[in-house]
Amino acid sequence: MILSLFFIFSLIFASSSAAVQDFCVGDLALPYGPAGYSCKSPSKVTVDDFVFSGLGKAGNTSNLIKAAVTPAFAPQFPAVNGLGLSIARLDLAVEGVVPMHSHPGGSELLIVVQGCICAGFISSSDNKVYYKTLYSGDTMVFPQGLLHFQINSGNTAALAFVTFSSPSPGLQITAFALFGNNLPTELVERTTFLDEAEVKKLKAVLGGTG
Ligand SMILES: *[C@@H]1O[C@H](CO)[C@@H](O)[C@H](O)[C@H]1NC(C)=O
Repeated sequence: MILSLFFIFSLIFASSSAAVQDFCVGDLALPYGPAGYSCKSPSKVTVDDFVFSGLGKAGNTSNLIKAAVTPAFAPQFPAVNGLGLSIARLDLAVEGVVPMHSHPGGSELLIVVQGCICAGFISSSDNKVYYKTLYSGDTMVFPQGLLHFQINSGNTAALAFVTFSSPSPGLQITAFALFGNNLPTELVERTTFLDEAEVKKLKAVLGGTG
């Protein structure tokens, strides 16, 4: 009886140690596929692979949106490859905004560390808007793929950290997607209901042509 229990346990341990892969630090030299990066050889992995020090410093907010997102996604922090998560730092100067955007690959959790941020998202089922002003310590969730935004609604710089349920959540900023490209103005007018002057103005501001 004891002997057979012993055999069962040794079988369980043997099979689980064979099946479980503890980590898959991405090898950025190899191509990126639907399942992420291929694994760096475990013999070459050190503790430093699991530490990312890039989020301690404010990003440069001297830009059109007065905001900076500093990502620690798989390309910057290959240790998150295969683990289903990642993180980024969000700096919003006074009047800063992360314009309406979506992450096709993952849901987002935001925690405000400093300042106050008006944040919200829009449901895809009925275009209902969920938005609120968040203060230091507040956390808000943005479900995967939905359009959302963050605006600095205070008169000091705001700082937040955002985590994602994907090592590569992706990012598409709606205004850049619509106007920062070379789709002819006439087609942009037809597909957005905006007039020519407005489309040309937005193309100029957002780097589009045509
Ligand atoms: C921030 O970005 C602006 C615009 O690209 C640049 O002129 C400036 O030198 C940058 N500041 C720092 C501290 O890197």
